[in-house]
Parts: sequence; structure tokens; C-alpha cells
Amino acid sequence: MNVIDVIRTKRDGGPLTDDQIDWVIDAYTKGVVADEQMSALAMAILLRGMTGAEIARWTAAMIASGERLDLSTVDRPTVDKHSTGGVGDKITLPLTPLVAACGAAVPQLSGRGLGHTGGTLDKLESIPGFRTKLSNDEFVRQLQTVGAAICAAGEGLAPADRKLYALRDVTGTVEAIPLIASSIMSKKIAEGTAALVLDVKFGSGAFMKKIEDARELARTMVDLGKAHGVVTRALLTDMNTPLGLAAGHSIEVEESLEVLAGGGPADVVELTLALAREMLAAAGIDGVDPADALRDGRAMDAWRELITAQGGDPSAKLPQAPETEVVRADRDGYVTTLDAYGIGVAAWRLGAGRARKEDPVSASAGVMLRKKQGDAVRAGDVLMELRADEAGRIPSALEVAASAVTISDTAPDASPLVLERLD
Ligand code: URA
Repeated sequence: MNVIDVIRTKRDGGPLTDDQIDWVIDAYTKGVVADEQMSALAMAILLRGMTGAEIARWTAAMIASGERLDLSTVDRPTVDKHSTGGVGDKITLPLTPLVAACGAAVPQLSGRGLGHTGGTLDKLESIPGFRTKLSNDEFVRQLQTVGAAICAAGEGLAPADRKLYALRDVTGTVEAIPLIASSIMSKKIAEGTAALVLDVKFGSGAFMKKIEDARELARTMVDLGKAHGVVTRALLTDMNTPLGLAAGHSIEVEESLEVLAGGGPADVVELTLALAREMLAAAGIDGVDPADALRDGRAMDAWRELITAQGGDPSAKLPQAPETEVVRADRDGYVTTLDAYGIGVAAWRLGAGRARKEDPVSASAGVMLRKKQGDAVRAGDVLMELRADEAGRIPSALEVAASAVTISDTAPDASPLVLERLD
């Protein structure tokens, strides 16, 4: 097989054959196909697209590039959730123990934040002692004993994706729906879960700005999951404004604890429960209301068990940022826009985000909102608090945070958080 023929086929808009796909993924993983050749192919895919059959084969080839976990020894039904990412999206934190408390096992392989979006592993690492790296054996054992584990994907899982995603990141080829769908689904299918619920976000703070693109991504991923025997559903959810009040790491853990204690911001509770209900249904668990498990403390008990099992201290004091600054309303009115992207960039500039994968993040930096979109405000009211380890980070964050807010005379129309459901 000749890689230049494979690139030319896609460059000229043709579909790749199964043999071409199997060969190119295998050869790239082994280093036989060079980075520059794979980048040309990725760009051709971004520009020309792929058929459903090509995406399915590409995903299968990425799964076959590594190991597939066997969760058959876990005696509860397994169900995972994946979010395409956003600002203030801490939902995995309350959701995972909640669903475990309702009788499922949740094999949650999570990622780190990049750019303006946060990552679950970074948030959890703000808990003293918490380990995000588990061996496959530890992962499976914890699913058997605790019913949930949240950790990084092991090196052996879809190595082709690991290499290709890093390449796409530096070649302007991340934003191709076939490549995003196959990247996410190859890891989720290789992880061995029987069921999966996707939270596909759209809006200013999301990967997909338009709902049409989010819908196409969701449809592609649901079809891929089903083709591989994974019960897969998706919710399309709004990410034009941050979820909850906190955007950062330790402050998002604190907010998640409020939800697990039966309180917390209404939007975080709503999405946590909507996803929990989908996950339980996908896992075939009927007659359990996850709201009860939040109210009666079972979800909090499962959280403490999960954190302890991974070396963390669930009672430890979380890091607090020494430097703070507030943004105030400059007039009376209603908060008509509180833009997720702007708040995400502010949190990033404060030290919560990273520009490159290997950059460290600050555990306590971030934005704590005091008002949400739709709230009435008076001139001088505190809209949000910016938190950082170093005072020097505040001015550039302040600028972008202040311009993320618009205040006008009339209240905005309330918009739903969960827009559509696909199965
Ligand atoms: N997350 C992934 O895992 N892969 C992508 O391509 C995009 C987001």
C-alpha cells in the first residue's frame, strides 16, 4: 500500500477502502507513515469529509491499534458518560458517584483541560492525595468494589488516537466531525463500557458553536456506539453560558460537593439528574430516582468512597487562591449575556487553563460567578470574583471577564439547558 495514493484518494473526494483505512492507521501507529503524511490525510478528511462506512472502519481500526478492556467481571451494569466539554462543566464529579449509588458501575476515563475548557482530572487533582493514574487491574477492581472510578485512559487504549489527536492539535485539523467522533468513540468503546451517554454541547463555550454541528456529531457518535454493540444515547445541551457558578478546579469540586449534599446551582442539578436518568435507563436500571440518592446522602457516601479508593482525602481542605478581585455591575438592569467563552478565557488567564498539554495548572485559580444570566442587578453589585495565585494574572483576565457580561433593561428569555435527545 502506498500512503500517497491514500492521501490522493481523499484529496480528490473519494471514499477510502477498508484496506486503505486499516493499513494507514496501523502504519501510522507503527511510525511507517510519517506525521507530515498523516497531517495531509487529516486535512483532506477535514475538507472532504467521510461516509458513515468510512467513519465506522476508521474507528474500528483505532480501537484495534490497542487493547480493549474486559469489564465482564464487574457484576453491575456498566455505563459511562462523555461530555464534549465546556466552561464550568463539573458534571462528571457529582454524576459518577450518583449513578454508582443507584446501582450501576461507572468506568469513567476522563481527560484534562485544554484552552478555555476545563478537564475532570485537573479538577480532581485539587483534592490532596487523589491519584488519576490507575492500572487496568486497579480500574477494574475499583469498579467491582466501589462501582466507580475516574482516571486517565491507560497508554494501551487506542494508541493510534493518542498520536493522531496530538498531531491534529498542531495542524488545524481538530474540527473535523469524522475525526472527533472516531477519536472519542474509539476510546469509549475500547474502555469496555456496555452503555454510554453523550453530553454534546453547543454554543460559545463549546467545541461546536452551532447546534446543527453538535447534532451531526452526536448522530455520528450514537451510530458508532450502536454499531459496536454499546447502548448509546446523546443529549444536546446549551453551553452559551457557564454551568453553575464556579469555573476552575478546587472551586468546581466545592460546587460539586454542594450538589452531592442536596443543594448546588439549579442548572448543575438539572443536568446531573438528566444525565443520571439517561445513564440508568441505558444501563437497564428501572425504578430508581437519582434525586432520592442526592437527598438521602447515598451519592455523597459513594463520592467519599471513590475519592478514598483513589488515595484522596475527602475531608481535606481544598486549595484557596490568595489573590482576588471582583467585577461589579456598572448599571442597574438584567444580566442578558454571560458568555461562556469569555468566562472560560478569564479562568484560563487566571491560571486554571493550559496552552500546551504539558503545562501545569493552578488548583485554586478561576472565576466564581455571583450572578447568572437572567439575574436582576443594581449598579455596584458584585457580578463575579476572580481568583489567582499571582496578582499579575488578574488584569488581563479582568478585561475579558468584564466584556463577557452585558446588562440591559429587559430580562432575557429563559432558554432550555437540554435541547434534544438522540438515540
Ligand atoms: N476529544 C477527543 O477525545 N478527541 C477529539 O478529537 C476531540 C475532543
